[in-house]
Amino acid sequence: MSKTLIKGGRIVTAADDYTADILISDGRIRMIGEDLAADRDTQIHDASGLMVLPGGVDVHTHLETEIGPARTADTVDSATRAAAFGGTTTVVDFTRQPPGKSPVAGYQDWRELAAKSCVDIGVHIILTDVKADMHQGMKELMDKEGVSSFKVFMIRTGPETIDDGQLQAIMETTGENGALTCVHAENGPILARNMAENVAAGRTHPKYHGLSRPSPVEAEATARAIRLSEMAEAPLYVVHVTAAEAVASIAEARNRGLPVHGETCPQYLFLTADAYETEDFEAAKYVMSPPLRTEADQEALWRALASGHLATVSTDHCPFNFSAATRGIEHSKEMGRESFAKIPNGAPGIETRIAMLYDGAVRQGRLGLNRFVELIATAPAKLFGLFPAKGTIAVGSDGDLVLFDMDESWTVRAAEHHSDVDYSLFEGWPVTGRVKKVFLRGEMIVDGDTWHGRAGMGRYLARGPSGQVG
Ligand code: URP
Ligand code: ZN
Ligand code: ZN
Repeated sequence: MSKTLIKGGRIVTAADDYTADILISDGRIRMIGEDLAADRDTQIHDASGLMVLPGGVDVHTHLETEIGPARTADTVDSATRAAAFGGTTTVVDFTRQPPGKSPVAGYQDWRELAAKSCVDIGVHIILTDVKADMHQGMKELMDKEGVSSFKVFMIRTGPETIDDGQLQAIMETTGENGALTCVHAENGPILARNMAENVAAGRTHPKYHGLSRPSPVEAEATARAIRLSEMAEAPLYVVHVTAAEAVASIAEARNRGLPVHGETCPQYLFLTADAYETEDFEAAKYVMSPPLRTEADQEALWRALASGHLATVSTDHCPFNFSAATRGIEHSKEMGRESFAKIPNGAPGIETRIAMLYDGAVRQGRLGLNRFVELIATAPAKLFGLFPAKGTIAVGSDGDLVLFDMDESWTVRAAEHHSDVDYSLFEGWPVTGRVKKVFLRGEMIVDGDTWHGRAGMGRYLARGPSGQVG
């Protein structure tokens, strides 16, 4: 049995910060202590001068999927390899209930795709069709497959619409079964109307994507979802929160003791709607939903991360190439060259989350080191039924570890990242803090620029109850 010994690193978890050795065997952490001994079968890695972080947990990705007529640029293989290079060893991906079919069918299709994952992987199911044995399928997935979270797109206006009564019924089913309802909170009919008006008036530049989806569209849906979850007596997770008013609703609910949890993403912390102000099509790179907002919204997000009103920072990795020449129009933002309404929504980010948050949060003095670890690993693991196997460094936890150089400076370049997408939201950004080595269940999968992992080595994660803590 091979063993891995990480020697002399500064171990940082959501609670601790100390220097020690970590011994991993058979995939799990067996001992943490000073001067641990190695035998002949032990691979030793010197971590002196480096931080040792728990492997990152990213609970919001869209891997190898379709969004309307568009297909994401990454495969499960390329996206999870990129995740690993960025220090993320666990992903919880989103897949969709195929319309007219049970959520179980969506899960089964996804399991085939996810078999190529390079990191450990679980799944949330996006519910699209209340008629197709939906509640029965949810129960089957919760009972037998360890799927303990489901998502509803409140933006839908077509055949996949889930109305408020149906959403509340979903919340009841999840709440009664130790599962968590996630919502994409924007008011669908209002934004559809705004979009149609802009298109009819010839306002088709990508910036009208943002202008069609002002903050109140998000704030209204967030407040409504909170009320529905309160009436359902069920926990709620609001994905990709961007607007100060939405943050305020979540804070108010939490202050009343409700199990309402919010997530934001690096793009909303570091970029603003100024990115849409280009004359050319460049602004399409930033077309995502909700859209980028103002500096005041950013400040509200940072305050909520510090105070605990927001629980996690995930990526919403949903990449489309900028250029159709890279891999065809169906993988590209160019689908919407004629109108913002046809630009596939979503952006890349799976590889840059941890380093950018370390730089922007810890180095800039906005958050402490323990809180940073909590946001990128511990809290998502706890909320989505993966803790303590994932999200921390403790005896018995999986040997998922990141050796991180807090002083190394580098520059974000799409040409150097490992995702199959042709641009980065953060091209040219200087970052201090860099992932050096990554271990998945004790096996080194990343060593600097060198990949040692394999497609298919990631394990499916049957999860425990979600939304019960935090
Ligand atoms: O624009 C986005 N966020 N695309 C991905 C799908 C979603 O809404 O999360
Ligand atoms: Zn969304
Ligand atoms: Zn998403």
